[in-house]
Amino acid sequence: MTTLKEMLALVRSRLAGAGVEDPMAEARILVGGLLDLGRTDLITRGEDRVAPEDEVRIFHATDRRVAGEPPYRILGRRGFHGIELRLSRDTLEPRPDTEVLVDLVLDLVSERRNELLEILDLGTGTGAICLALLANLPLAQGTGTDLAQGALDTAKDNAALNGLSDRFGTTRSNWFEAVSGLYDVIVSNPPYIRSDIVPTLDREVREHDPLLALDGGTDGLDAYRVIARDAGRFLNPSGLVAVETGYDQKATVRAVFESAGFQEVAARADLAGHDRAQVFRAVC
Ligand SMILES: C[S@@+](CC[C@H](N)C(=O)[O-])C[C@H]1O[C@@H](n2cnc3c(N)ncnc32)[C@H](O)[C@@H]1O
Repeated sequence: MTTLKEMLALVRSRLAGAGVEDPMAEARILVGGLLDLGRTDLITRGEDRVAPEDEVRIFHATDRRVAGEPPYRILGRRGFHGIELRLSRDTLEPRPDTEVLVDLVLDLVSERRNELLEILDLGTGTGAICLALLANLPLAQGTGTDLAQGALDTAKDNAALNGLSDRFGTTRSNWFEAVSGLYDVIVSNPPYIRSDIVPTLDREVREHDPLLALDGGTDGLDAYRVIARDAGRFLNPSGLVAVETGYDQKATVRAVFESAGFQEVAARADLAGHDRAQVFRAVC
């Protein structure tokens, strides 16, 4: 029988041989994820024996990783801003960069934490942004929309997984088409990659994230134009529109919102210093 430490070394070595960039980190993600062990457990319980059926699961997962499948897709779930999210073929894998948008919105509404805020998350995917906000705003209600029914089904499952079902609903909608009501915060991480760039993305992204979640049209700004044009009709007075953007889109997205009657009230970069999140308010 193999010990946990030996298993990690075996997986690390196979991933290194396949050219995976950080093989030890990914070995920990796979082995820890499959055995439900945190980073500390992986270190302190290195002499534990791995059960034969777990060895089989780990080797199978390693084969999939060597064949190019991203580690969190193999596990079928990923942590995001302190909550756990299941993934499906219709959902983008939520990225740590998007946590910047969540943090910025939470900072801006911190004084309204105990109000009945209404949140609309356009293109909700796994529900990541809306569910992370609800987890931190105990009285808020959220609606997640998406064009992909499969994404909405996953978002609903994720709400249940995190005990948020009573405050989260879904609506299948092409942006605002099927949306009704008024909201205090409209959030979105829309598809923002230029169509001509999509075929050049890393194979892992191209083959495992849905195209609908990536392609932002000829200049990458299609969704921002629709959101900026229509958001005003769905915002309460002093409501906020918060969007994630590509690292080089800050000025162009600001211009799109300004020409639709909004002004920027906050913006934030990610840890790498890339512009990532912007928040707007309608000019009175
Ligand atoms: C970049 S992903 C973001 C997913 C999730 N909000 C997140 O941050 O992880 C964009 C999402 O927008 C959805 N989407 C694309 N076009 C849409 C449209 N016309 N109307 C509504 N949702 C759309 C996609 O299905 C996808 O779930």
